[in-house]
Amino acid sequence: MADLDIDPFIVMEVMRDAAVLEQQGADVIHMEVGQPGTGASGAAIAAVTEAMSSGLPLGYTVALGQENLRQRIAAHYANSYGLEVSIADIAITAGASGAFVLAFLAAFKQGDRVALASPGYPAYRNILVALGMEVVTIPCNDETGFQPTPEILDQVDNLAGLIVASPANPTGTMLSSNELKRLSEYCDNRSIRLISDEIYHGLTYGQETATVWEFGQKSVVINSFSKYFSMTGWRVGWMLMPSDLSQNIERLAQNLFICPPAISQIAAAASFDDLAELDQHIDVYRESRALLLNRLPQMGITRLAPADGAFYVYAFVGHLTDNSLEWCKKLLNEAHVATTPGVDFDQGRGHQWVRFSFAGTTEAVTNALNRLEKWLQKS
Ligand SMILES: Cc1ncc(COP(=O)(O)O)c(C=O)c1O
Repeated sequence: MADLDIDPFIVMEVMRDAAVLEQQGADVIHMEVGQPGTGASGAAIAAVTEAMSSGLPLGYTVALGQENLRQRIAAHYANSYGLEVSIADIAITAGASGAFVLAFLAAFKQGDRVALASPGYPAYRNILVALGMEVVTIPCNDETGFQPTPEILDQVDNLAGLIVASPANPTGTMLSSNELKRLSEYCDNRSIRLISDEIYHGLTYGQETATVWEFGQKSVVINSFSKYFSMTGWRVGWMLMPSDLSQNIERLAQNLFICPPAISQIAAAASFDDLAELDQHIDVYRESRALLLNRLPQMGITRLAPADGAFYVYAFVGHLTDNSLEWCKKLLNEAHVATTPGVDFDQGRGHQWVRFSFAGTTEAVTNALNRLEKWLQKS
């Protein structure tokens, strides 16, 4: 541990600074954090209430999770993707984050080179570093929707793994079904383990999402109840495991976590009972997204990633600052709008980018935009 050098997850530090301001009485609008302003669905809460009042012991479950929940997830793949998935291939995890640790440990060994797009979700990089893997950062830009392509990967040697996310964080950009298929084939042909983070599936604004398992089952699929299902704090997610990794993943899960939280598994299973309620959240996100895409350019912030899915707008602010960290701090301290500096997602170019999350209410987004507009006029 002594010489371990892990970068901070900057958004968590912004949240901490915002909390200090709030303790001093400030009314902070949160556009930094990637979590729905809503809670778990009514169906999930009802199931939890019933489980608590019926005196269930809520003890350990098997390490890979309750069969009932795994069946619901298998049914979800049949209904949403027309894909048959065996429950033996499904592991319930402590959110996508728990799945990353299990997947990376099972799929890679120390020193393995694992590629990921930059900008990208910072925890991939930080977890890989903590586990002793070598992170190969692939700078991607608007031309490829901030996503890697086989042509870009051709320029990188000796990869053991590739992580992709579609829709992605922080850009919201998506890989088309064909692009994902090409990446899947590219990786399979070269024994590169593809890890597909599908946590933002269900949160899209027109484009279809494909799961990488439609193109073969050598990849690892990671998903979660945090985003579409609006259950961040419940810490429950899932993984589709390639058969050659499943035994090691199960043994790692037994030893590292014993099992995912029992009560959260009950809530997660019930949340499939009422998807209509969850779909209503997307209408709110769609409205907030439109507001941002419309009003930011009016303020001179014109270069925006497409935001095909998820609930983020990744915006170029290089004409306003070369130090997004300081810019976001100033915006927080002076206008009480919390945002995430691009350096969290792209250590090279992120000094000129900022991520706005629109996962809260449309009213909050409107107020934040009003404050930002005034602040920009003054500064
Ligand atoms: C791309 C991506 N993957 C994974 C996670 C972590 O999700 P979980 O809450 O399921 O651990 C996040 C959280 O913001 C994310 O943006």
